[in-house]
Amino acid sequence: MARKFFVGGNFKMNGTIESVKAIAKNLSEAQLDPNVDVVIAPPTLYLLLVREHLKPGLEVAAQNVFDKPNGAFTGEISVLQLKDSGINWTILGHSERRTILGESDEVVASKTKFATEGGVGVIWCCGESLEEREAGQTIAVIEKQLAAVAAKIGDWSKVVIAYEPIWAIGTGKVATVQQAQEVHEAIRKWLKANVNDKVAEETRILYGGSVNGKNCKELAKEKDIDGFLVGGASLKPEFVDIINSNL
Ligand code: G3P
Repeated sequence: MARKFFVGGNFKMNGTIESVKAIAKNLSEAQLDPNVDVVIAPPTLYLLLVREHLKPGLEVAAQNVFDKPNGAFTGEISVLQLKDSGINWTILGHSERRTILGESDEVVASKTKFATEGGVGVIWCCGESLEEREAGQTIAVIEKQLAAVAAKIGDWSKVVIAYEPIWAIGTGKVATVQQAQEVHEAIRKWLKANVNDKVAEETRILYGGSVNGKNCKELAKEKDIDGFLVGGASLKPEFVDIINSNL
């Protein structure tokens, strides 16, 4: 089965009312490859605004969601609230949340379970630090992150995996095509061995880390790279070129 290319834009804590509206409008008017799923993730405050200004067919993601249905959880938003607002996706486990906000593999897995069971798709992020790569631990780190989520979820149809080496995020230092493909292939192998053939075959694995309008085409050619999770460049016009990597 051919996996549909998927491009996510993670705005992180960037943007204003005017700038996110302009991005939504530009994307809605651009000529985009129809064979690509496009999902953009603005800061929480702008989710509804972006949903309103984005044409149908282009999706919106939160950058995080909590793993409780509702209640006294100051500062958090729930899966039900996302659904209620027409937000069908969330990013989870981004390395900035793991390292700066201290989210463990188990917390990320629990959130992933809650979101997928509530009908919200998850762009689930994993990746190693520079020290871990240099110590030859890349695959072991990713496998540990995968094992935690696999222990919690049963339905992988709502999960897209994003491999984001921490040393390549926002640094301009993109992983080589070989480095990215090698990890993507290892993730697929792990899914085959530890989940099942169908999940291994069908789950999309995105690359994230300094993707731009210039390096995207080479990366997109690799057999296990099914799209991108883009940070900085998703705020710029070149995001359209990244979406259209295969044209
Ligand atoms: O989630 C996307 C990301 O962390 C990559 O950021 O700015 O290197 O494209 P950037």
